[in-house]
Amino acid sequence: MTTIVYLGGSKGGSAKTTTAHLAALGAILRNKPAIYVVTDATRKVRGEGRPYGVLDGRSATNLGNILSASRTATSGWLFLDGGGNRQALDIELASEADMTILPFRASEEDLDTVADDMRRIPNALAWPAAWTVNAFAQKTAEFYIDALAKAFPGRVITPPISFVNSVSELLADALGSPATPVRSLARKVFDTIEERYDEQQRTAPHVAREDSEDLSRALHQPASNMQDKRL
Ligand SMILES: Nc1ncnc2c1ncn2[C@@H]1O[C@H](COP(=O)(O)OP(=O)(O)O)[C@@H](O)[C@H]1O
Ligand SMILES: [Mg+2]
Repeated sequence: MTTIVYLGGSKGGSAKTTTAHLAALGAILRNKPAIYVVTDATRKVRGEGRPYGVLDGRSATNLGNILSASRTATSGWLFLDGGGNRQALDIELASEADMTILPFRASEEDLDTVADDMRRIPNALAWPAAWTVNAFAQKTAEFYIDALAKAFPGRVITPPISFVNSVSELLADALGSPATPVRSLARKVFDTIEERYDEQQRTAPHVAREDSEDLSRALHQPASNMQDKRL
């Protein structure tokens, strides 16, 4: 059966589209069939020259057909790219998907939004994305990961998806030969998703403990405590 992964979340610019493309490219580089599905009606479909399939799930009928066809397919990966700011669709697609991932970036606004989304979507996992590769900046950014992991144990994927400048080529109209750093990041993204999915299959479904008080407490720590990461 096809494994359906939904990249969702309310906030625009959180790296949903990029991560969905990276995952599909990574799967192909690991010799697994993969399809990227656009669900955002305001987006164009850009399939030209890509090594993975690109499908148009922008209408409810199309999306329904894609999902039911994928249920009868024997193998492969389907990466659904959410549009952002559509909470009802998030809930619906999360219930269809085998795995729901909410990318978030290192900002307070991203953290608040992803925490809200995690409360509303019980099994969704958060994944730090476009994450700084600078060691010093990482120390500060880690506060966001720690705060979220504390509030939602077992529901934050690590390691973060690194910031790689050339990933923007994945969002271009046509994809030529992806740059080496993009291919390398794509493999890491897919490997992490696959590992996480295998782990999910092995263990009993995780019952989320959602302690929103932990998060708000963590968020309101004075800056001095953020430095030594004490929550
Ligand atoms: N891993 C990454 N490294 C560098 N830039 C990234 C990464 N992921 C996303 N971005 C950039 O962040 C911006 C928003 O990403 P996008 O995937 O379009 O977000 P969304 O689909 O959630 O709105 C884009 O300019 C994209 O190039
Ligand atoms: Mg997008």
